[in-house]
Formats: sequence, structure tokens, C-alpha cells
Amino acid sequence: MSTPRKVTKAIIPAAGLGTRFLPATKAMPKEMLTVVNKPIIQYAIEEAYEAGIREFIIITGRGKVSMENHFDYPYELADTLLKKNKLAELEMVKNTLPSDARMYYTRQGEPLGLGHAVWCGHTITGDDPFAVLLPDDVVCRGKNNGLAEMIKMYEETGKSVVMCEEVPQDRVSNYGILKLAEQGAKGSRLSVNGFVEKPKAEEAPSNYGVVGRYVLSPAHMKVLETVKPGKGGEIQLTDAMAEIAATEGYSGYISTNRRFDCGDKVGFQMANLYFAMKDPYIAERLQPFLNEMATEAAKVCKM
Ligand code: UTP
Repeated sequence: MSTPRKVTKAIIPAAGLGTRFLPATKAMPKEMLTVVNKPIIQYAIEEAYEAGIREFIIITGRGKVSMENHFDYPYELADTLLKKNKLAELEMVKNTLPSDARMYYTRQGEPLGLGHAVWCGHTITGDDPFAVLLPDDVVCRGKNNGLAEMIKMYEETGKSVVMCEEVPQDRVSNYGILKLAEQGAKGSRLSVNGFVEKPKAEEAPSNYGVVGRYVLSPAHMKVLETVKPGKGGEIQLTDAMAEIAATEGYSGYISTNRRFDCGDKVGFQMANLYFAMKDPYIAERLQPFLNEMATEAAKVCKM
């Protein structure tokens, strides 16, 4: 029997400690931090749904039940909004999750690394290929939905696909870096035969860095079962990907859509400003304040 190729499942690892956002993340999941009025995990769900994903496997952990509550139907709130005739707000609350989307929650007992978090979804993915979305990467929609393009590539070739971006030399040590099987891209596609997790700049095999979107063949789950802890003592997804790349081959999808690293305080603030300025009501009021802040900052720089 041939391997089923249709990609309709996605794993969303959300069991990390979020230490870069302490103390905010002491009692609140990083994935529930809001960009304007939506938690970052909802951006990932909406992007994946648009790309054709219908089953969402959330890898959760201690103190993270608010994520489950967020995607539930809140009867009391809905009832109150209806009685108060707040219909726009009611729509927002009802549409957190489309009715044909199915959520599964499974716990990663201890945050042993991204590779381990992904493996925790194996009983639900079974023999199917699956997408992985890291919710702290908020990827904007440009002319297209990058994940949808990656799913198309997987369904055409049967090779796993990773989203990547060109990264400056002094930042390669923060990324999983692609090893290219062929130099140069064909359009937005790269042929890949390996990965190196956070290499030193002088040892990096390319300047293409992995960003948090993947479409993975089912074989990854088998490899993750036995892969040894790597960099930082964690079970690294990159190590399993490197093993698969050497046997099955891999594709890179070069994304040119805007992306915010919301796992980092700077990226998170930028995302808030970006999405706020997309809302005409907020933009009109925020713009004069931003101008004032820019003038003040310029004065401080001159001092
Ligand atoms: P990060 O490494 O960015 O998240 O993982 P973190 O560990 O929570 O953040 P810091 O560095 O301490 O601030 C990327 C994604 O993978 C999940 C995280 O929840 C985040 O969504 N993750 C990471 C897990 O689910 N389990 C892990 O063991 C590690």
C-alpha cells in the first residue's frame, strides 16, 4: 500500500517554558500572549486552517489549560453577549475555531526539547504526514499562504518540506541551517540533503535558516523515538530532520512573507505594532503617538 500523502493534520508544540517572557509566563502560557486582541496560537491555527489542516494536535504542558478554554465554546459568555445584543463580539467568540476543525490535546510531561514535543503527537498522526507550526513564529499572509505552498510541494514530491529564510551571517548560530544538495533555488524551492542545528557562522553550510513551519513525512516519528539528546541536552527536531534528509531527501521553501519571532520580546513588540497599524481605528490613534515616540527617541540618540 502506498503512503497516504494528503496533509490534514498539524502538530502545534506549546509545552515550552517561555523563559524569555518571565514573569508574564509564570502563570500564563507564552502561546496565549496576545498580538493586539488574539493570542499568538490563534494566528497559527487560522493560518493552518486556511492551508487545509483540519486536525490540530496541541502539545501542552503544566499550567496551560487556558489554551484549551480559549478554543472551547463559552456558553455563558455567548449567552450574555446575545442578551446584550453585542453581535460583533458574539461572532468573535463563536468563530475562534471553525466547526469542522478538530482539536486534540496531549501533554509533554517535561519540556525535553522540540523533537520530543513533536514525537508526543505520534499516536494521533499515526502513518500520516503532518505539518508542524511553532506558534511563536507569527507568519503573515502575503500573496499566498506559505504553508499551503509547502503542503502542495509535499503532496507532489513525497519529500518533507521546511520553511526557510536567508539569515545574516551574524545570526546563523541562532537557527537550524540547511545543507543544500544543489546550489541555488528553483523559484522558491531548494533541494536539501541535511541540517545543522545552530552552527558557528564559519561552519554554517548555507545562509538559509529554518523558520517554524514544517511538513513532515511519517518516518520522522520513528526517528524521533530513538534520536539521542543533541544541542543543549534537548531532543532536537533538527537532528531527526538531518537523518531523514540523508535518506529521503528534503525540500526547502523560501518564504518571503513577513514573519515575527514572537518568542522574543523585540519580535513580539513589532508584531503588535504591525497588526495594530492594520486596524484603521487603532492606526489613526496610534500614528501620532508613534511620531511623538520617534521624535523623543531621536533626541535621546543625539545626547
Ligand atoms: P522555544 O524554545 O522557542 O520555546 O520553542 P520555549 O522553550 O518555551 O521558550 P524560551 O526559550 O524558554 O523563552 C518553540 C516552540 O516549541 C515549544 C514551545 O512551547 C514553543 O511553542 N516547545 C519547546 C515544546 O512544546 N516543548 C519543548 O520541550 C520545547
